[in-house]
Amino acid sequence: MNTPEPLFTGKNRIYFPNMESTNNYAMELIAKINPTEGTCVITDYQTAGRGQIGRSWYSDSAKNIMISYIFYPKLIKAKNQFILSIVSSLAVCATVEALGVSAKIKWPNDIYIGDLKVAGILVQNTLRDVYIKSTILGIGLNVLQDSFPAEIPNPTSVLLSTNTSYTLNEVETLLSAQLEFYYLKLRRGEVELLKKEYISKMYRYQTEHQYIEMENLEQIIEGKIIGISTDGKLTIETSFGMVKDYGFREIKFVI
Ligand code: BTN
Repeated sequence: MNTPEPLFTGKNRIYFPNMESTNNYAMELIAKINPTEGTCVITDYQTAGRGQIGRSWYSDSAKNIMISYIFYPKLIKAKNQFILSIVSSLAVCATVEALGVSAKIKWPNDIYIGDLKVAGILVQNTLRDVYIKSTILGIGLNVLQDSFPAEIPNPTSVLLSTNTSYTLNEVETLLSAQLEFYYLKLRRGEVELLKKEYISKMYRYQTEHQYIEMENLEQIIEGKIIGISTDGKLTIETSFGMVKDYGFREIKFVI
């Protein structure tokens, strides 16, 4: 594979065979030493891998990528922090596609191949006043795992969906290069272009599906995703023509 070399992303690389969570370690590093932009923390096994909304993230040892990147995005306001989900989702999606399979972004930042999840992202920001001071982009990308515990909902891996065993090193280099590509777009202020690309890669964009409204007695609605709001909420137009924005805890996909 012809992988472009990133210039600074993943160059300062902190590796341990095991750790609690690469995001936790990155958070401690930021508090202690302000590591250089693009520093990554990577491991083969997490004893307390973290997912979104307090969930856990499980991966077999040395089968998948578990990595957290540290960046200092300048002049991004806290209220616009969804742009970091956009940057990281686009990078992971492009990485998977470069490995030979079509991928989509399931709002807010899961990466799907068909109806199966191949990667998840945990973004953690620290703030200074109304601005983002640092961000941790924690990425779990399933590469070589070929079976998953039954309790993990609809998982897949690059191996299962492409039938090819890429090495973790080559996937990591590709991921770092893609992340740098999209992060530099953000640094150049190309926010609208990033949003447009994100929307064009959304899982179930503009097609009718069922969703569960969590705030409304878990009622099932039918509708189509038509985009995202300025603060990163999911915009759905129901089959009755009503348009509504949903936050992360307010809506579930029926898959
Ligand atoms: C999700 O889909 O719920 C997000 C999963 C994020 C998992 C990655 S693995 C590397 C980094 N360290 C963590 O503890 N979590 C993220």
